[in-house]
Amino acid sequence: MKRTIVITGGAGFIGSHVVRLFVNKYPEYKIINLDKLTYAGNLANLKDIEGKPNYQFVKMDICDFESVLKLMQDEKVDGVIHLAAESHVDRSIKDPFTFAKTNVMGTLSMLQAAKVYWESLPEKYEGKRFYHISTDEVYGALEITDPAGVEPPFSTKASSGEHHLAYGTKFFTEDLKYQPHSPYSAAKASSDHFVRAYHDTYGLPVVVTNCSNNYGPYQFPEKLIPLFINNIRHEKPLPVYGKGENVRDWLYVEDHARAIDLIFHKGKVAETYNIGGFNEWKNIDLIKVLIKTVDRLLGKPEGTSDHLITYVTDRAGHDLRYAIDSTKLQKELGWEPSLQFEEGIEKTVRWYLDNQAWMDNVTSGDYQKYYDDMYKNR
Ligand code: NAD
Ligand code: DAU
Repeated sequence: MKRTIVITGGAGFIGSHVVRLFVNKYPEYKIINLDKLTYAGNLANLKDIEGKPNYQFVKMDICDFESVLKLMQDEKVDGVIHLAAESHVDRSIKDPFTFAKTNVMGTLSMLQAAKVYWESLPEKYEGKRFYHISTDEVYGALEITDPAGVEPPFSTKASSGEHHLAYGTKFFTEDLKYQPHSPYSAAKASSDHFVRAYHDTYGLPVVVTNCSNNYGPYQFPEKLIPLFINNIRHEKPLPVYGKGENVRDWLYVEDHARAIDLIFHKGKVAETYNIGGFNEWKNIDLIKVLIKTVDRLLGKPEGTSDHLITYVTDRAGHDLRYAIDSTKLQKELGWEPSLQFEEGIEKTVRWYLDNQAWMDNVTSGDYQKYYDDMYKNR
């Protein structure tokens, strides 16, 4: 079946993996990557597919309602996968307005453009889909609990009844009330409410997913994993917030992209699915794995870079523990992560070490010239 799908934020970290998957897997679809190219957008992430006939890049701001509506009408768009957002918690603490503008008003603009265009068609919402990508951070933070004096991580049961190594007995399930703490997660939570309101009020065929922390190639090096890999390589300090006791639940980015593909095609309208691989790590333990892996791959003796660990002032309002329960997605749609964490981390560290040119380009700011060279004068 032919389809025209707009993927917003396709030049970012997760978006570039989703664009690549859709362009390669569905040659019969037209994939339009709509991205403003903020500091986090990098077209070099998509070099390998930029010449494909079913791929088009459009530089556009999701907040520009008139332009988004015109694009949807001109291209006869029947699906939206909405990832564009301001995504870094530390930046949201310094500049909350930009997060409210992009994440809330930008999402509203996308929803309204889809509604206006699809309602103008004779078939209206038949065969249409608006897929909104959200985060586990909207659920707030979980406790680190210690049942019967057992040192965490301990084996506990998620709602599936299966045992996992975890830092607490509670998990984020889809029915939990929203309790965002950072300006980033508050803006994401607000955008999720608008998405559901557009379904309940106008019948827009929406689906929402909330995913845990992603890692893998092409992540902007202000986030923990790429920042630390690069710092270890260059023997720079590793700024660990607080005591490094916070727990995050990590998923390889290509497994997230596969889940998005599955849910875009098979997920039920108006449903929410949590995405995560039951893979909780205390920051400091994860950092030690990174140090060990980078040192080993660079041929340095074990322990060489341990001294780089530097404890710094904690992030304001730092959520203690995230842990996604993805039982619903696993049971209803049959998704499961393809990679074990050890395998995923090895692959990720190798990628950053092998792609130092990409890292240099991003850290120097040169990547922002890529658009001018490749697209502007086409
Ligand atoms: P990112 O910061 O790497 O990329 C964001 C992209 O959005 C960039 O290409 C940027 O140019 C684009 N963008 C920003 N503002 C825009 C605007 N006004 N108009 C058009 N494009 C704009 O983000 P990411 O980590 O890839 O996250 C993508 C989505 O997934 C976000 O919605 C985020 O909330 C969500 N998410 C991320 C994670 C994670 O671990 N990174 C986990 C769960 C959910
Ligand atoms: O949980 C999903 C979220 O994961 C996404 O919605 C966000 O877009 C994404 O950025 C990510 O948020 P985090 O705040 O968890 O990711 P970050 O990589 O910034 O930090 C991971 C953990 O590491 C967190 O506990 C803070 C800590 N940290 C981070 C940095 C950048 C440090 O200790 N030092 C650092 O320098």
